[in-house]
Amino acid sequence: MTYHSTMTKIDAPQQPLVKKPTVRPDLQTVTEVTHWTESLFSFRITRPSSFRFRAGEFVMIGLPQDDGKPLLRAYSIAAPTWDDTLEFYSIKVQDGPLTSRLQHIKQGDQIILRPKPVGTLVHDALLPGKRLWFFATGTGIAPFASLIREPQTYEDYDQVILTHTCRNRADLEYGRSLIAGLKDDPLIGDMIDGQLEYYPTTTRENSPCMGRITTLLQQGKVFEDLSLPAITAEHDRAMVCGSMGLNTDLKSILENYGLREGANSDPAEFVVEKAFVG
Ligand code: A2P
Repeated sequence: MTYHSTMTKIDAPQQPLVKKPTVRPDLQTVTEVTHWTESLFSFRITRPSSFRFRAGEFVMIGLPQDDGKPLLRAYSIAAPTWDDTLEFYSIKVQDGPLTSRLQHIKQGDQIILRPKPVGTLVHDALLPGKRLWFFATGTGIAPFASLIREPQTYEDYDQVILTHTCRNRADLEYGRSLIAGLKDDPLIGDMIDGQLEYYPTTTRENSPCMGRITTLLQQGKVFEDLSLPAITAEHDRAMVCGSMGLNTDLKSILENYGLREGANSDPAEFVVEKAFVG
């Protein structure tokens, strides 16, 4: 009797001492990281098969904090919609809550990807037109890195112009190498010939084209350099992504040309979105 009761005690199921880790369905793996300058980097992560987005949209991504809660920021998806992986382009802010840590990610690390991409820099928010302008400063080029690799961009417009203004020449490198690689792209390569214009400018270091894009538009220099007529509401459509100052100034310039701001629910001639910073 005593023997049996002892056995029963030993065989009784034990409570697990360690809690099972929580399964995070939104964790993705970093597949590639490229550091462009001391303050700019891009990275790729795995793409869940259920993850759909429209070119130009942004999504919340981030890292878990010490208390386990996620620290998330909005990032434009720089990859085209047909890509197997998702690409992002980021600034490194040394005391930024997220980018101070995110800049150290390596291949194989995990980051959080929230499932619902949104945004206004999408084809659906513009009425049909002849020319499409992408105006970017700094990391604001990210949504356009997606859109310039999207076949629809070249199917819908006769001409596509990407302007990118940065302080220094090195800050242009991500965009420059992206454009240089497009001609070899199996999907886009043949479409861009003669249809895509790239207009990089710097404001604090000498380069072939200097000045803020706002000034260059007002001076008419952009049109002269590209042999294009001035922007009109009839033919031109625009997407703007940069700092608050750029967005405000360019919005008023485009409105002076007669263009109206559009939205997903009310398409018009131009759309604006603030680039992620911090
Ligand atoms: P600038 O050097 O004259 O300030 P930042 O690195 O501060 O985000 O700026 C990125 C680029 O955007 C810089 O070349 C900067 O020019 C330019 N920029 C900043 N504000 C404006 C604005 N309001 N209009 C046009 N370009 C701007």
